[in-house]
Amino acid sequence: VEVAVKFLEDSHLFNAGKGSVFTAAGTHEMDASIMDGKTLEAGAVSLITGIKNPVALAKDVMEKSEHVFLAGDGAMQFAKQLDYEVKDASYFYDEFRHNQWLEIKDTDSFQLDHATKKDSKFGTVGAVACDKNGNIAAATSTGGMTNKRFDRIGDSPIIGAGTYANNTTCAVSCTGHGEFFLRAVVAYDVSC
Ligand code: GLY
Repeated sequence: VEVAVKFLEDSHLFNAGKGSVFTAAGTHEMDASIMDGKTLEAGAVSLITGIKNPVALAKDVMEKSEHVFLAGDGAMQFAKQLDYEVKDASYFYDEFRHNQWLEIKDTDSFQLDHATKKDSKFGTVGAVACDKNGNIAAATSTGGMTNKRFDRIGDSPIIGAGTYANNTTCAVSCTGHGEFFLRAVVAYDVSC
């Protein structure tokens, strides 16, 4: 699931990694998470900037720290400790995303990456997988919502809301308006 999500993060078409939407401040704040359905171990990061593959950092939180969820400056410190390159903002610039932001910049509204595009499949990215032994996993990565403010965090980095995996049930990666998935604890509820 990490490899699949990395491919999607490297494409400018999707709202994750390179194609992340713009915040109200004209920056990119990315969220990602990953979960192993066999061990129920999980890793997540939120409010990170300049990291090419947020899902890889989430996996490193799972495997190389004692924690599950790191956010903001702390997550960036962890990335620097692991020698992650911090890319310049120009790497994340995309004209389509920039124009989406310009439409609502300086207003109080924030919107889903594909709110104005019917049948768009190019929003938050995720993957679920099952190996030949029946072990399952899930991962999700996103730039969140266009024009988001106040360090808004959606469902994608929240284990149980946007991502969940359990070998005894299923693996889930959600996409859509995060506030609804948060309120309903959707990924865990589906698993239950
Ligand atoms: N589902 C992605 C987000 O709301 O941030």
